[in-house]
Amino acid sequence: MPAAADLTSVVPSPLPPLHRLQFDVPGPPCLTPLPDGSSVWYVSRYADVRQVLSDSEFGRAELYAPDGPPRPETPGLTDNPELMFNQDGDSHLRLRRTLRRAFTPRAVARWRPWVASIVDDLLKGLADRDTPVDIVAEFALPLPIAVISRLMGLDASVHERLRRWTVIAFSGDPSPSEEARAALDDFSDFGAALLAERRREPGDDLVSGLVSAADDEGGIPESHLVSLVCGLVAGGHDSTMTMLSNSLLYLLGERRECWPRLAADEQAAETAAARLLHMIPLGDDRGTARRAAQDVEVGGVPIPAGAVLLADCGAANRDPEVFSPDRAEDLFAPLEAPTLSFGAGPHYCLGAWLARLEIHLSLHRLAAAFPALRLAEPSEAVRWRLGSTSRSPEELLVTW
Ligand code: HEM
Repeated sequence: MPAAADLTSVVPSPLPPLHRLQFDVPGPPCLTPLPDGSSVWYVSRYADVRQVLSDSEFGRAELYAPDGPPRPETPGLTDNPELMFNQDGDSHLRLRRTLRRAFTPRAVARWRPWVASIVDDLLKGLADRDTPVDIVAEFALPLPIAVISRLMGLDASVHERLRRWTVIAFSGDPSPSEEARAALDDFSDFGAALLAERRREPGDDLVSGLVSAADDEGGIPESHLVSLVCGLVAGGHDSTMTMLSNSLLYLLGERRECWPRLAADEQAAETAAARLLHMIPLGDDRGTARRAAQDVEVGGVPIPAGAVLLADCGAANRDPEVFSPDRAEDLFAPLEAPTLSFGAGPHYCLGAWLARLEIHLSLHRLAAAFPALRLAEPSEAVRWRLGSTSRSPEELLVTW
């Protein structure tokens, strides 16, 4: 069982790369005190985590009830109760229905050609650069920003602002500066203006689809739609950028022998992308929170109504009952069971298929175009960008 202070953040100094984070062997749910004096149920076994994320006895909205756990005075994007991720039941479903059709595996498969062409354009730009090149700034960040922008019908002139707002929104700073608050207000204004514009002049993009589905649904508060749009812009690129940067750090730093196969075999790159998404956590955060709506049992342990649970997907992804430790580092071995890196149940990541596509196409085409790609400085030199839920290299210098 991890120590109490480890539950919300496990950040020794100096920071290890995320693929080297240590996880304890999962065990039954256990009540664990937090530094602020409150207690949470730490849940770590694969089956138990799936249950907590999937069953309707556990919700997100109750975390924001007046008798819920302490919250920062100024809510950021992720702890805003109006965000889809923080709603349950009908109000969650109504919001999710406005987007669900857009993100099915079949719909995402149709986006493959233009996602591939964005990858190829960035690779062409990279080839023209003098080395060393920062592959985060030149590839891992602009790719998912271009993809989410294309889906939402946004032009390149807003990219810089989107990134700045996202960094502030995900900073996790409990007492943001005046400037940061103003930036978050600007982000909301941007979301509101975008919704208004697409309502006036609908196009063939995700936001127009969302507005029309929301109008058909009826009764969804506009502020919830604004949070949804801002959440999509931010979540739609930050997590993918983080995963891609951390995957490249691991592959180029420690698993260079995999590079030729990633280049030669797209199917193998797809399997490797799934493994990387499974084994590299997004950040140091331990556990996604839920609150029990009634007395309930998890893995044979009684949990009282009102209790807060932290479901640790990283630990559950390493549960030896489900995932063989012997295969953990074999990037080309298919996963033994669905990964929990995208969650499970009603809040299962809407962008999971898109993120997989972006990452596998990137690895395959990058390895094919740059067979000699390597890090230009030791992995230990990496400086980290720290967010509330994610951590990734500020820059990653490469050469070829
Ligand atoms: C590697 C990339 C990504 C990772 C690891 C990731 C991971 C996650 C996780 C863990 C959750 C919460 C699930 C839960 O607690 O049950 C989530 C939710 C969500 N993700 Fe992702 N995500 C990624 C990319 C994306 C992309 C590209 C998009 C959109 C284009 C996206 C949109 C969402 C949305 C809208 C939700 C909230 C769903 C809901 O509340 O119903 N994500 N994601």
